[in-house]
Amino acid sequence: EDPAKTAQKTLLREVTDLCHHVLVNTVSGEPALAYLTKRGLSRETIDHFEIGYAPADNDLIRAFLEKQGVDYATQRASGLFVEDDTGALHARFKDRIMFPLKDAFGAVIGFSGRVLSGSAQAKYLNSPETSLFNKRNVLFNLDAAKSEFKSYGAAILFEGFMDVIAAYQAGIPVGIASMGTSLTQEQVQIIAHQTRQLIICYDGDAPGQKATARALALVENHPRLETNVVVLPDQQDPDEYIKARGAAAFQAQLHQVLTPLAFQLQFMASGKDMTNDRDRLAYIDAALPQIARVSEPAAQTIYLQQVSAVTNVAVEDLRLSLPQAAPMPQ
Ligand code: UTP
Ligand code: MN
Ligand code: MN
Ligand code: MN
Ligand code: MN
Repeated sequence: EDPAKTAQKTLLREVTDLCHHVLVNTVSGEPALAYLTKRGLSRETIDHFEIGYAPADNDLIRAFLEKQGVDYATQRASGLFVEDDTGALHARFKDRIMFPLKDAFGAVIGFSGRVLSGSAQAKYLNSPETSLFNKRNVLFNLDAAKSEFKSYGAAILFEGFMDVIAAYQAGIPVGIASMGTSLTQEQVQIIAHQTRQLIICYDGDAPGQKATARALALVENHPRLETNVVVLPDQQDPDEYIKARGAAAFQAQLHQVLTPLAFQLQFMASGKDMTNDRDRLAYIDAALPQIARVSEPAAQTIYLQQVSAVTNVAVEDLRLSLPQAAPMPQ
């Protein structure tokens, strides 16, 4: 490997250990540790994910790296600093909880830092793109989760780091998350390389459901990946759901999977007023062509029942309105 990359990885590993130490062993880490504890994270979970704290002190990490003899070029390329006009380096992450971001082999390649309280700043701040960190290719927790996909039977894609972490603590070790951006084609390829079964469990709120529809469009027709969806009730995200209802209820939710079409039919109904005939007919018009493409008659009936339940139109009437499937080639 390129020696500059090796030096980067060594630096990021040392900063991970430093920030973890500051969080769990020092006075300056106490508010952050109290925050994580209040959110329900156990000490085991904090250690497992090597969560840390970057103090408000601008010079702590710099002074530490100087003492380790790390050269300026390596520090500059690390993504941990913002450079001013004079070339001086200032801490990028200040007074933030530090989540190490790792590659598929467990090497730290960057960080996401969370503010402790609601402030004007962005809630999560990621490392910038570096020679190691390209967020299109990164899936949080893939390094640890990938070896569990086979025995669990699937990978589970969450929206946020805290969802992956809460799921881990609830006994679900297969959670992964993209980096706060929409799922990318690169991430889909990486997932498909590790498993044939994917469950998307994004936040139950409207943005989460929209993001689910976008992610499904990206994985549909993938030759090796079968994808299903879990929709959590009450607009909750997985972390909030686990906190409110507990691990067993969450595990039960993960078994309530929807096929992509069942999700689509539910999603298309969400903004509609089904007491209004125009909305009902528009919904039926949008739903039936998709159901017509389903080849198994039993599956077709199940989807027609789903539409029937929300529109109050009988399954057999809906069936009569199904567009004709393309004729079979002779
Ligand atoms: P959410 O706002 O759903 O975050 O964004 P969350 O995971 O529930 O966070 P908590 O529970 O308040 O801590 C989902 C993901 O979007 C990215 C992060 O990756 C986050 O996990 N994000 C969010 C950012 O990158 N920047 C932000 O300012 C907010
Ligand atoms: Mn530790
Ligand atoms: Mn969200
Ligand atoms: Mn969320
Ligand atoms: Mn959350």
